[in-house]
Amino acid sequence: MAIALIPGSFDPVTNGHLDIIERTASHFDELIVAVIRNPQKAEPLFTLDERQDLLLEVTKHLDNVRVDFFKGLLVEFAAEHGVSAIVKGLRAVSDFDYELQMAQMNYQLSKIDTLFMPTSSRWSFLSSSLVREVARFGGDVSKMVPPQVAERLQERFKK
Ligand code: PNS
Repeated sequence: MAIALIPGSFDPVTNGHLDIIERTASHFDELIVAVIRNPQKAEPLFTLDERQDLLLEVTKHLDNVRVDFFKGLLVEFAAEHGVSAIVKGLRAVSDFDYELQMAQMNYQLSKIDTLFMPTSSRWSFLSSSLVREVARFGGDVSKMVPPQVAERLQERFKK
C-alpha cells in the first residue's frame, strides 16, 4: 500500500493546501496530513488541536486522508507510519531552494523520497502567513480559505 505524507504548520489550512491534498490523495492509497508541533516556531495563531480540527473538517470528503500530528523529526514520523513518499507543494521557484535542501536531507536520513507537486496557478500567491495578516486587519480572505477557516479567522479577529 502506497502511503503519502504531507507535513506542515497549516496555520491555517488554505485553499492552496487543500488543492495539494486533494490531488495527492488521488495518486496514493492513503494520505497522512500531519501538523507539526514545533516549539521552535513563533506562537501559532491556532493551537495544534484547532489546526488539526480544521484539517479534519476540510478533508472529510476524502476517504483515504487521515489527519495526525508530530513533533521532532519528520522522517521518524514518516518511517513509523510506513510512508512511501513525502509530498510538498511548490508555489514558485523561490520555494524550491529550501525544499530541495530539506528533501535531500530527509532522503539522506531515511531513504524516503520527497515528491514535489506544483501548486495550482490559481493559488500560487497564497500562504498561511499572508492569510493571517490580511484577516488580522479585517481583509476578506473568504475566497482563499475553506469556509470553516474563514469563519474561525473572523471569530479570532473580530473587534
Ligand atoms: O508548513 P511549514 O511550516 O512550511 O512546514 C515545515 C515542515 C514542518 C515541513 C518542516 O519544518 C519540517 O519537516 N519540520 C520537522 C522537523 C524536521 O524534520 N526537520 C528537518 C528537515 S530537513
